[in-house]
Amino acid sequence: KNVAVLLAGGVGARVGLDIPKQLIKVAGKTLLEHTLVALHEHPDVDEVVVMMAQGHTDAVRDMTRGGRYPKVTEILEGGDTRNATTQRAIDHLLATAGGAEVRILLHDAVRPLVTPRIIGECFQALATYPAVDVAIPSADTIIEVGEDNTIRSIPPRATLRRGQTPQAFRLDVLAAAYEKAAADPDFAATDDCTVVLRYLPDQPITVVHGDERNMKVTEPIDVFIADKLFQLTGIDLPRAKTEEGYREALTGKTMVVFGG
Ligand code: CTP
Repeated sequence: KNVAVLLAGGVGARVGLDIPKQLIKVAGKTLLEHTLVALHEHPDVDEVVVMMAQGHTDAVRDMTRGGRYPKVTEILEGGDTRNATTQRAIDHLLATAGGAEVRILLHDAVRPLVTPRIIGECFQALATYPAVDVAIPSADTIIEVGEDNTIRSIPPRATLRRGQTPQAFRLDVLAAAYEKAAADPDFAATDDCTVVLRYLPDQPITVVHGDERNMKVTEPIDVFIADKLFQLTGIDLPRAKTEEGYREALTGKTMVVFGG
């Protein structure tokens, strides 16, 4: 079965409000709910597990009340780091899978504009690969700096990508990588592919093409940008959700989208 894990265990310190950033309302819904809808309505997703910031699970229980999101099978508290949150999700799935073959797709709750194509291609890729990342080319040149803030290297841009989420794995592979990580006192990462890359280097991780819309709400300005993007992809504007309609809208031919 295919399980989507919604990673909402963070507090959003960089946005800096008194609520976790995933509870900010944009275009009529919280970021968390927009992201849940995207995962929940995807035909390849069988179940959704929500990992929520400590002390905030009631907000998720309210949101899912009344059978509105029947694929949500569990609401759990996250850990102190993103990887600790993933570990809790893995432990839960290992305990409940009952020997079934599980594919796990982990997605940031603060990337509400993930597209159905991306989710579908991640599960498709798992038929061939044990692990999948999602990334897009970088328009900016990426530089590596040392602690003294001088440049160490400037890798050729063509070889670089900006990692997004979702990231998807065969559960047994991700669980094995996390087990090794747990035994390493120096373990540190900010995503899940890093854990497989570092502790199971023989397992190939394929890359699905992401989308510029699939931005992560990280800084205050991102709330503004996400709000603008929702104006283009609003649920009542199916054409704006298509690749063609989206391009038309962005390039100023909005009459085609909003009038059609
Ligand atoms: N996340 C999580 N558990 C944590 C920390 C983060 O599930 N302990 C989730 C966040 O909720 C978010 C995603 O991981 O959906 C990406 O992390 P990031 O943008 O860094 O979120 P925060 O940790 O909330 O942000 P900040 O670093 O500004 O506090």
